[in-house]
Amino acid sequence: MNLYKYVSDKINEKLGFEVNLESPRNREFGDFATNAAMVMAKKAGKNPCELAGDIVDKLRELDFVADASIAGPGFINIKINDDFIWKNAIAPTPIKNEKPQIIDLDYGAYNVAKSLHIGHLRTSIVGDTFNRIARFLGHKTISYNHMGDWGRSMGIVIAWIKRLHPDWPFFSDNFDPNADYSSYAMPVEELDTYYPAGAALAKSDPEFMELAQKITADLQKGHPGYNALYNVFMPISLASMDNTIKQLNILPFDRNLGEKNAALYEEPVEKILRDRNLLQESDGAEIVVVKKDTDNAPMPPVMFHKSRGATPYDATDIMALYYRKITDNPDKVVYFTDSRQKLHFEQLFRVAELIDLFPIENLEHIGYGTINGADGKPFKTRDGNAAGLNDIIDMVRDAARARVQESGKTLDDETIDEIALAALKFNDLMHDLRSDYVFEPNSVTSFEGRTGPYILYTAVRLNSILNKVNDVDIKAETEYNMDVDERNLLVQIMDFERTIMTAFDKRATDIIANYAYDLCQLINTFYHNCPIMRDDVDDTTRAGRLHIVQIARDTLACAIDLMGLKIPSEM
Ligand code: ARG
Repeated sequence: MNLYKYVSDKINEKLGFEVNLESPRNREFGDFATNAAMVMAKKAGKNPCELAGDIVDKLRELDFVADASIAGPGFINIKINDDFIWKNAIAPTPIKNEKPQIIDLDYGAYNVAKSLHIGHLRTSIVGDTFNRIARFLGHKTISYNHMGDWGRSMGIVIAWIKRLHPDWPFFSDNFDPNADYSSYAMPVEELDTYYPAGAALAKSDPEFMELAQKITADLQKGHPGYNALYNVFMPISLASMDNTIKQLNILPFDRNLGEKNAALYEEPVEKILRDRNLLQESDGAEIVVVKKDTDNAPMPPVMFHKSRGATPYDATDIMALYYRKITDNPDKVVYFTDSRQKLHFEQLFRVAELIDLFPIENLEHIGYGTINGADGKPFKTRDGNAAGLNDIIDMVRDAARARVQESGKTLDDETIDEIALAALKFNDLMHDLRSDYVFEPNSVTSFEGRTGPYILYTAVRLNSILNKVNDVDIKAETEYNMDVDERNLLVQIMDFERTIMTAFDKRATDIIANYAYDLCQLINTFYHNCPIMRDDVDDTTRAGRLHIVQIARDTLACAIDLMGLKIPSEM
């Protein structure tokens, strides 16, 4: 049950107006509080305490209210009946939504022939958790891995391969499009070196840059040799992305469709733009002006056709939106990228509005902050290089293994992987998504404090209690006298649904991570203060506590699943 919603609805109904209900962290004075009397008194020019007295009298008539009292200048505290809490506390289940939204989610968005770097961590983790939350709340989501698979980086990679192997058939005038070229496949580690090498050369060598640009345009126009070569390395990159997705325990994408797929919709999009006179010629390129008179900040035009005829990133994003409109017709499209792409999305959304594709309020860009090292600068590996995603995963795994060894435990590799994954993901989720944070492999793997391993450890502890008993022992009496620690835990559990809804509404995945941490704190206080299996515990108490353990485990497991973590069998 969503306790907050239940109580709030009943109170509003009883009083005949909407009150603003708060649930204080410290529940000493009540489970809920409201300043309704003070707000109303001010409006009506009345005495707040008198008004509060009338409200309190009415609230006391509600069967789930144990007590309502006035504090200070007219605050009202409301305490919920223990019996009501005991009977209504259950583990959460996915919600049947009467008004589900169709939401296109754009995250991950990996690039072909470029190894994943630290910047892809947050888009993957946060996007995936947001997807899971939306689905839990009954929305229909379609997740897109909008791959960078068609832009200039492809031209650079092909130009670099041409430099390495000028004699390969892809570059020959007598290229045979029907032959089998699979034997030209290279290991992904090698493939991933081409782009950085080519990009560096392009910077210093204008001729090479020109070649790369020409190749990009030709590839996009259908050049058979380049396309065959593209089809050789594309699956290598896809397989490596897939591997990362599995390692990170991210739900499979509903659509692995990137820039290349979007570019298929160039014609209809161009027609819309032309029909509305929105394409302007500028130095041989074609642009869309999105500046408004009311703009204070610079708002550059959107590039639609480059002077060399290639389709730029900006343009493919318009086409991708068009594709999503005609295939999914979503209520919302939500993008998760680094906050440095803020301007790009502002421009894109303006174009979408100009051509009546989507109202601007249905398009959202969630720009996240940077992951920094202890020095406050973007995180680097020990050798000073920009950190790759695999470096990060390895680092956290090593730190987790060291921790486990220190503690004298022996755990198998799978468990260590699960701990490392939790350390990495939880640490990412618990920070406010829009700000930067400092990443420190050693502290994120601690078994204590606000960490993923602490969350898992708490779940493992609950599981080990439940594994020792059978269902008959758990069956709780209908009447049960709760201790304060038991009660606090159940009230937190009854706040699960509201928490998830808030996380969804605010697009704030840190809310669920911090909820999970608070839940674990309450679970561990309960565990510490309320013995279960000890000989001096009577049967009724034991059954009641086991019942609490079970609901708590199911609730925590649900939160853990929404964060895309896995509970190890032992820890
Ligand atoms: N591939 C891009 C990158 O790695 C991110 C793409 C984000 N999604 C989009 N529809 N533009 O920076």
